[in-house]
Amino acid sequence: MIKAIRGMRDILPPESSRWQWVESVAREVFDLYGYKEIRLPLLERTELFARSIGADTDIVAKEMYTFPDRKGEFLTLRPEATASVLRAVLENRLDKGAGVKKFYTMGPMFRYERPQKGRFRQFYQINCEAFGGEAPELDVEVILLLLQILKRLLLGEMRLLINSLGGPECQEKFKAGLGLFLINKEGLCEDCQRRRTTNPLRVLDCKSAHCQGILENAPVIRDYLCSACAAHFARVLERLDYFKVAYEVQPRLVRGLDYYTRTAFEVVAAGLGAQDAVAGGGRYNGLARELGGPDLPAVGFAIGEDRLLEVLPEDFGQDHRRRVFVAAMGEAAREKAFTVVQELRHQNLAGEMDFEGRSLKAQMTLADRLNAAYVVILGERELETNLAQVRPMRNFAAQAQDTANLTEVQGGRLQVKQEQVRFEELVDYLAGKIGPQAEF
Ligand code: HAM
Repeated sequence: MIKAIRGMRDILPPESSRWQWVESVAREVFDLYGYKEIRLPLLERTELFARSIGADTDIVAKEMYTFPDRKGEFLTLRPEATASVLRAVLENRLDKGAGVKKFYTMGPMFRYERPQKGRFRQFYQINCEAFGGEAPELDVEVILLLLQILKRLLLGEMRLLINSLGGPECQEKFKAGLGLFLINKEGLCEDCQRRRTTNPLRVLDCKSAHCQGILENAPVIRDYLCSACAAHFARVLERLDYFKVAYEVQPRLVRGLDYYTRTAFEVVAAGLGAQDAVAGGGRYNGLARELGGPDLPAVGFAIGEDRLLEVLPEDFGQDHRRRVFVAAMGEAAREKAFTVVQELRHQNLAGEMDFEGRSLKAQMTLADRLNAAYVVILGERELETNLAQVRPMRNFAAQAQDTANLTEVQGGRLQVKQEQVRFEELVDYLAGKIGPQAEF
């Protein structure tokens, strides 16, 4: 049997309903804030990511799925979406005109990392990117948007970590200071020995405990911010305070991608273990120019959907649609059942039936497995009398506290009452029971 590739998985029902729910909540909130969806190719030229994420990052150096196509051109399965969104914005001149341009995109990303809890090689992100605004209020708006999505999804315990990485000049000075600090440090891992001269910022997000230990007394970027960057950061924090958003300033938060300038942030959630960041983002004012475009300030974030779903309670977002199963006995009844099922669907009610001529008992089992709320029973007698038997399923009646349809029988067991409904009234009757107007 051919199996899925390591680190890549199928998202199956009923789990897929939860994914749809998360995405629909995100779409609603994006809409409130004026973001429009943008759909992007999964493949881009390798150069796009190498130039934007940075050659010394783990992502570019170790984790990209890169291959030559049939003409020998190097292509990469996108490890993230920001570079692609910006490429699309510049290529399609979406940055033209007044106002901040706001886009969101969702879909799979690919990184060749060691799979573990909360870490996959194909994983899913919900991305938000705003272009053309430099004001600190836009950083705050983007953070508020992120938190609104997470709160609507009822994410429990979470912490917002925030830092400022300054502009290119602040970063250059900081890198020099950090490089100097690291120059005679012993025992840095092989990567960090190289990075301390090529890009010392990347030492800060090294995963090795030993390197992290060495960094305890390292200089922090805050002390290298110019007055404009310091004022920007102060304003971001002040506005977060104003909106009563709790945050923790983390002076060593640099994020694993090279393009950030000024604000950088992450949201971490309880219960995820080592991979606890459910979302990360920040400003990247210099990236458009780096890719050959104009000066285009930008800020955004990405939610890791896989991780988010791991920390949301399992019953959130489950498929709670109420369904009707139409059970039929005999060929003529089956024909009638098919008509009824289609009529239900045209009235926006979920109908199901069996085409295989199973026994009534087997059909009832099927209805149970499909978690049907009602079963309609059609047989020869029902066709003759023009009356269908309608039976609420016990679980549904009990859950809906439908006392009218529940009777207590000997031994305290709840039994459901079956009703007879004329064919012409059947769809309306069921709509009254399980349609949007039905009361529960
Ligand atoms: P990132 O921090 O690399 O940022 O990824 C964002 C989120 O994606 C992480 O916080 C995590 O939840 C999720 N994630 C990353 N790698 C994996 C993985 N291997 N398995 C499961 N989940 C993962 C970015 O990608 C930036 N493009 C975010 C951004 C947008 N910055 C500005 N705009």
